[in-house]
Amino acid sequence: MSAYQIIEHEYDVVVVGAGGAGLRATFGMAQAGLRTACVTKVFPTRSHTVAAQGGVAAALANMADDSWQWHMYDTVKGADWLGDQDAIEYMCREAIPAVYELEHFGVPFSRTKEGKIYQRPFGGHMRDYGKAPVPRACAAADRTGHAILHTLYQQSLKHDAEFFIEYFAIDLIMDGDTCRGVMVWNLADGTLHRFRAHMVVLATGGYGRSYFSCTSAHTCTGDGNAMVARAGLPLQDMEFVQFHPTGIYTAGCLITEGARGEGGYLTNSEGERFMERYAPTAKDLASRDVVSRAMTIEIREGRGCGPKKDHIDLHLEHLGGDVLHKLLPGITETAKIFSGVDATKEAIPVLPTVHYNMGGIPTNYLGEVLNPTKKDSEAVVPGLMAIGEAACVSVHGANRLGCNSLLDIVVFGRAAAIRTAELVKPGEAHKPLPASADDPAIARFDRLRNANGSRRVSEIRLDMQLAMQKDAAVFRTAESLKAGVKSVTAIADTLKDIKLADRSMIWNSDLAEAMELENLMVCSVTTIVGAEARHESRGAHAREDFSTRDDAEWMKHTLAWCNDKYRVKLDYRPVHTYTLTKDVEYIEPKARVY
Ligand code: FUM
Repeated sequence: MSAYQIIEHEYDVVVVGAGGAGLRATFGMAQAGLRTACVTKVFPTRSHTVAAQGGVAAALANMADDSWQWHMYDTVKGADWLGDQDAIEYMCREAIPAVYELEHFGVPFSRTKEGKIYQRPFGGHMRDYGKAPVPRACAAADRTGHAILHTLYQQSLKHDAEFFIEYFAIDLIMDGDTCRGVMVWNLADGTLHRFRAHMVVLATGGYGRSYFSCTSAHTCTGDGNAMVARAGLPLQDMEFVQFHPTGIYTAGCLITEGARGEGGYLTNSEGERFMERYAPTAKDLASRDVVSRAMTIEIREGRGCGPKKDHIDLHLEHLGGDVLHKLLPGITETAKIFSGVDATKEAIPVLPTVHYNMGGIPTNYLGEVLNPTKKDSEAVVPGLMAIGEAACVSVHGANRLGCNSLLDIVVFGRAAAIRTAELVKPGEAHKPLPASADDPAIARFDRLRNANGSRRVSEIRLDMQLAMQKDAAVFRTAESLKAGVKSVTAIADTLKDIKLADRSMIWNSDLAEAMELENLMVCSVTTIVGAEARHESRGAHAREDFSTRDDAEWMKHTLAWCNDKYRVKLDYRPVHTYTLTKDVEYIEPKARVY
């Protein structure tokens, strides 16, 4: 261990990750007078939030009647009653001030004729408790994430948060049940850093890269989730993986749902607008799980488009060049680059593609990480928070509505800052750490750096991604999931035989990718084991052998502990069947019809 020289830092708060959630928390904490560091493996404005396109949901009612109670109803229904209703109430109510706050920070939203924030319809967002689509997605053309991310980074610099950019987090520093900091590797000069903090906030994003085809950046490797698992804490609802209906055929990159919000529609090889059969009211604007399943059925039943009948057509031609260039310029360009299609003249070939992880690190609506026990399903881990896609609050339950992700990151990034300001006094002294507190992190780093087996990182990663794509797909069966558990576990076993070619400390991308692969593997095994065990269909988890939702048995959150051999233990905790205030009643489960 002593071979590595370690550079010490002491902060009130350390935020890991500089996407929208991380930056909103970072500047909120700095603004509250807390000495705040933000550690990030990519430059902040290259974080994956930059790729979010269609909008941020809030019932501003700028273009049609709307209310946060309707938004809450849609979110509970979209989540297929696996969401915690206290947290959903908090998010939908806070959406309105949170978006106006973004506007005042300088986010360049598109505008209505009257100069208000422009809003477009999005999947599953309806007026009057499910009657018809409502324009609720507050948009900056189709580059909303880009606009928000840049604004939040500017705010963080304005409030003097300190950034450690291209620093890779290895593991949490735990002292018994309490988090005391994080061990970090500086990619640029190869030094190791011990960050001590009274609060560590994980804002590390999702793990789309567990799959072969996803809309996620290469950096989305579940780093925070895996750090939590290695600290002996559970992950929650990992089996719920969202497929976005419109990933570009073969390339997988995102064509925003906002395209359908502006009037785009899907057809099969017969030219039929098939969503009318599956969702008579919402049609192409049903929730993502519903649309992705409908597309998959059309392809399976031989009505896929193209010579191989293996994709669906998305039509935007009728919208005209003016609308496309003004409101959807990004995807018009993406369609040209990645599928060679001029969207003003021809349909874009699309396929459901992995897009979002509803599961993650369990937290309450204040951002505090939970370590649920039989006696106390709400017990918190002192010193540790998680926000954004890394967290499972749970506001998205079994299926997230589009635009509720940009909302989640700003609302819960802000909530984490508010809660931390209540818990941590600026400048408070740090207690000494136990002598061995960072041994596990350094041992992990050293083991991987010197790994001398026979399998390359890229080989193991590809095996894992293909197995997840095949066996934890849009539709699942006992057969596919059992096969998946077996194959992903066997692939995880090959990590013992990993080989790194580069032993250097400076910009060793082989080592960074090996650490990311271990992180992804934790996410993959907990996903597929949780999916195999859940004997029902709910939201994005569609089992052909258990085709209905079973509230009596399964309206509960899965908890998954993953050990260092990638073996998973499961347990469950109750869904919150209560709201936060008396302003709104608990929404009883019912059939989900769009
Ligand atoms: O389709 C989209 O623009 C994606 C939005 C989201 O995932 O929230």
